[in-house]
Amino acid sequence: MPNLADMLNTALSPEQAQLLSHVAVESARLGARVYLVGGAIRDALLGRPVADLDVTASGGPRFGFALADALGGEVVSSSEFGTHELRADGVAFDLAMARTESYAEPGALPSVRPGSIREDLARRDFTINAMAVEILADSWGDLQDEFGGVEDLRLGLVRTLHGGSFRDDATRIVRAARYAGRYAFQLDDDTARLLARDLRHLDAISGDRVRHELEKVFDEPRAAAILRLLRDWGALRAIHSSLRADDATLALIDDLASEPERGGRAVTLSLFVSSLPAEAAPALERRLNMGADWARVVRDTIALRDVPGRLRRPGLLPSEADDLLRDYDEHTLRAAALAGEDMAADWVRRYLNELRHVRPLLDGNDLLVLGVERGPSVGELLRELRRARQDGHLRTRDDEVAYVRGRLGVN
Ligand code: CTP
Repeated sequence: MPNLADMLNTALSPEQAQLLSHVAVESARLGARVYLVGGAIRDALLGRPVADLDVTASGGPRFGFALADALGGEVVSSSEFGTHELRADGVAFDLAMARTESYAEPGALPSVRPGSIREDLARRDFTINAMAVEILADSWGDLQDEFGGVEDLRLGLVRTLHGGSFRDDATRIVRAARYAGRYAFQLDDDTARLLARDLRHLDAISGDRVRHELEKVFDEPRAAAILRLLRDWGALRAIHSSLRADDATLALIDDLASEPERGGRAVTLSLFVSSLPAEAAPALERRLNMGADWARVVRDTIALRDVPGRLRRPGLLPSEADDLLRDYDEHTLRAAALAGEDMAADWVRRYLNELRHVRPLLDGNDLLVLGVERGPSVGELLRELRRARQDGHLRTRDDEVAYVRGRLGVN
């Protein structure tokens, strides 16, 4: 049995390593066998830092709470599948009871029952995720790799464990693209065939689950490569017929990844839907069961397409550009600033960097002291001052006082 102790010690942060040895001691006391599984093993083998710790235990249903107590930590949250998020020694980790799963029908959530670690690994998506290391001082690092995960990592292959994997859970199609894009891996031939055969099962996946998978894609530094794979496999269309990702869009998403301030997944979403036909938006919103934030990005992305023509008007004043752009979602504007190279995009960039931050130097109290009547005229004058500042007519506080006096007819 290969031993990964050295690799793990390099890939884990000191805090993570410390926590795992604490977990090992307390679990042994509680009589449970505990394993580090999934992504942590995969990433350690790839020589990448371990982001999240997934721990699987062969304990009873209350084990999560007993372990949290024994560690002096807490259970942050629990799910219906017997998984818990724990926090101890300043480190958060996921704890699951070893289980087997069965799927009543494609797209359904699985029914689970307790199982062995072997069964737990066998229910997983890909060989590269189906490896475990027992966390016990004397066998620390001993690798369980029944399905050939190490070999597939070496070959750079994403491979399912069995022929029913995508049918059981078609979100794995998106996950396959995520790993293939992230690590520049290929699908193994059988997996590619199964994936093509089972694309239609994406239809049965709920909007929330598909959206959640897309969020994870948008968060990846290589989101563009992943979306390209999903497009080429026909998976985007299988999610919703309106979804496509043309090369120009993918190039922009790729550029975004190298921006220091990526602006997060909402900017990627806006780029992703930038060529969506306007009439398809409501159906896509329903398909992905979008909340208000995503729906706003989609709607604003579409509505903003009409604005550049107006922004290109010769002699447009900064305050008028502000009028045209003010009501749009910021992420959508950031995407538009990134996407365009013409005068309209220059206005969007100027709005984001400068115009929207302009404030008058005087405030409402100052206006009252200058004799403006309490009420709506205070707000109106503040807005006028802001516009005049944006347009470069006012610079100093004295300029603003003189402007207000002029409006009041006082000298
Ligand atoms: N898993 C699965 N099928 C799914 C989702 C998850 O088999 N549809 C399994 C995989 O074995 C995966 C583990 O659950 O390794 C944890 O899932 P997740 O946290 O989503 O993935 P990670 O392995 O942590 O990888 P990532 O780097 O993508 O977060």
